Amino acid sequence: MKNLLVINGPNLNLLGDREPAYYGVATLEAINCGLAQRAAQAGAALATYQSNVEGDLVNRIQQAQRENVDFIIINPAAFTHSSVAIRDALAAAEIPFIEVHLSNVFRREPFRRHSYFSDRAVGVLSGLGAIGYELALEYALRPSTEG
Ligand code: DQA
Repeated sequence: MKNLLVINGPNLNLLGDREPAYYGVATLEAINCGLAQRAAQAGAALATYQSNVEGDLVNRIQQAQRENVDFIIINPAAFTHSSVAIRDALAAAEIPFIEVHLSNVFRREPFRRHSYFSDRAVGVLSGLGAIGYELALEYALRPSTEG
């Protein structure tokens, strides 16, 4: 059975209310619920985690390695553009991951164009809203996906 983990970074607990023009109207709970249903239908285990705290995200990734998680879907949110610590945690865990952004970070402020994750990611989905998570999950569920 595949063991999958979805991680969301700071302020994504506010989805639904937060800048809907960028991030849509779906709540994180609704997004996670849809992902859990799809994973269950496919016979995979899926855990979700959100934190506003960088160190907690690092700890959750270290925990994922101990739990033998096969694949991570991560939206590091603002930490995308700043966090060497979360990048290093993913590298240490050696768990393949897809980077997801609800908004198209390339259509926004220039500082959002740099990611500490993209060069290590299996793939990046940016600008497709909540569907980005769903597409990432479909990839992670593929039998051919490494891990
Ligand atoms: C985001 C884009 C980031 O630049 C921003 O800081 C976020 C959300 C997105 O999903 O579009 O918090 O990761």
